[in-house]
Amino acid sequence: MCGIVGYTGPREAGPVLLDGLRRLEYRGYDSAGIALVTESGELFVEKRAGKVAVLTEALGDKPPRAGIGLGHTRWATHGRPSDLNAHPHTDCTGRITVVHNGIVENFRELRDELVAGGHTLKSETDTEVVAHLVEDAYKGDLADAVRAALGRLEGAYALVVMHRDEPERLVGARLNAPLIVGVGEGESFLASDAAAIVAYTKRVVFLDDGDVADLTPGMFTITDRAGTVVDRPIDIIPWSAEAAEKGGYAHFMLKEIHEQPDALTAAMTGRLRGESVCLEELDPIRERLAGIDRVEMIACGTAYYASLVGAALFQEWLGIPARSTVASEFRYSPPPIDSRTLVVAVSQSGETADTIAAARLAGDRGAVVVAVTNTVGSAITRESHASVFLQAGPEVAVAATKTFVTQVATLVMLAADVAHQFKRLSAEKERELVAALRRLPKQAERTIELAGPIEEIAARYADAAGFMYIGRSFGYPAALEGALKIKEISYLHAEGYAAGELKHGPISLLDADVPLVAVATRSAVYDKLISNLMEGKARDARVLAVATEGDTQIERLATDVCWVPDTLEPLSTILAVIPLQLFAYYVAVKRGRDVDQPRNLAKSVTVE
Ligand code: G6P
Repeated sequence: MCGIVGYTGPREAGPVLLDGLRRLEYRGYDSAGIALVTESGELFVEKRAGKVAVLTEALGDKPPRAGIGLGHTRWATHGRPSDLNAHPHTDCTGRITVVHNGIVENFRELRDELVAGGHTLKSETDTEVVAHLVEDAYKGDLADAVRAALGRLEGAYALVVMHRDEPERLVGARLNAPLIVGVGEGESFLASDAAAIVAYTKRVVFLDDGDVADLTPGMFTITDRAGTVVDRPIDIIPWSAEAAEKGGYAHFMLKEIHEQPDALTAAMTGRLRGESVCLEELDPIRERLAGIDRVEMIACGTAYYASLVGAALFQEWLGIPARSTVASEFRYSPPPIDSRTLVVAVSQSGETADTIAAARLAGDRGAVVVAVTNTVGSAITRESHASVFLQAGPEVAVAATKTFVTQVATLVMLAADVAHQFKRLSAEKERELVAALRRLPKQAERTIELAGPIEEIAARYADAAGFMYIGRSFGYPAALEGALKIKEISYLHAEGYAAGELKHGPISLLDADVPLVAVATRSAVYDKLISNLMEGKARDARVLAVATEGDTQIERLATDVCWVPDTLEPLSTILAVIPLQLFAYYVAVKRGRDVDQPRNLAKSVTVE
């Protein structure tokens, strides 16, 4: 949510910043801006409502020559998207510029105080107060002034601040919003995430909450807010800049759908040993895991749907209560949590404010917290006693695809590993599971092949008034996720429903304009699902079914069928969702939507 990038060094800062903003655009894209201290010592600011492309056009592809600057791409919280509210923001003197991700919760008080003190604030944003607070605190040293200003802020921030009169220096700070330092040869970077800078350096420092980073070309010092130097390790980003490029696909989403077989392989790498599952990341908490008597899963959006599979398996395999709760609700009615509770926080980005807050609450109450995330160094890992990474590589499209299937696969492995430790998973069951997991990447590949006709099918459904998705058991999370994909990128209404609930209300929505999408893969609940499918058919709804290869019955019943290979039921969610992702993709393309950056959304949501 909001992307930040800063650069100081020998390159031309303008193109570095614009390139970084394009790569960060999935974090928010309702306005964008850059600030530079030009070679002649002037502060240059350009900012525009709209996407980074609008800003680039305004700059005529020729930002002034400069060796230092900062940039921002915004997802609006305070103040509607406009040129004026776009970042960077400046102080009264026009020397200090600030970009910010997060929310300054006490900005109204600060604003009133600043105005009473003679400051003129031009925008409606919370961020602008920071520029003026730094202005008041500035006595010739930017890092000191930023530290002083931070003492006044409540809320969350990742900030980058620049002063015209210190033209090689950038100061960054973080509290509950991500910010990393990029350590180059004779050059330094600040960014919301590695995607913005990995083309220039793979050496990064993940800042901690409360850190203030003071950068000059090739040098950096990190202190706490009181100015005491703190030591932070340099990490190496394990993927290349190309991994975050479209690589010949029309959209990132399509590329990421096709990357799923490889992403599944990567997610399982090092975790399947012979005939068992083994997550080494859990070794430091084995003793605590041995004592758990319940499992609570917390997550938002797509990650929440993946977590439903995890909860079902923990319950089935361990024989202890397990459930999943939307993180934003978890806090309002927290379940009983103590040292015997395992809390699994699932978050692709590891930055989702709601999930982080819920994990923190669980940790404070003594739970053992495990993060399942794709982002090494992310905030959720700091709230957790152990972190299990998806290893799926960067996901750029706002609509999650490969991180959903790897979340499900990772949660299956997590539940199996703990069940193994509990001696509740028989050797035979584990052997069968491991064999099925090993087959999965090839089967995902086959699923994509089998989905060849989906573009044509999608074209026939693209004029629907809305969709009803149904599934039972492990088909239910796939139905929820399929419906979410349609909503997110085609802007059509879609409901994901437990198939058995269809008759208790939503069936009234079905007619010739509202098709039924049924996840009807081979399972113990297949026959019941078919009955629900027939209920829809009897209401004139067209039926698109996702079914297992070799199912001869379904062809007669459904209007259209997408085939998937046969697998174990807990893994069927992974294969069933793939045609639904492709279906949503082609419906959105047919409707002319902005697939990778759908309106109103952001890939990671760092506000509650
Ligand atoms: C946002 C994204 C969703 C995502 C959700 C949770 O709303 O648009 O695609 O599922 O956040 O994100 P997380 O990073 O915690 O998995």
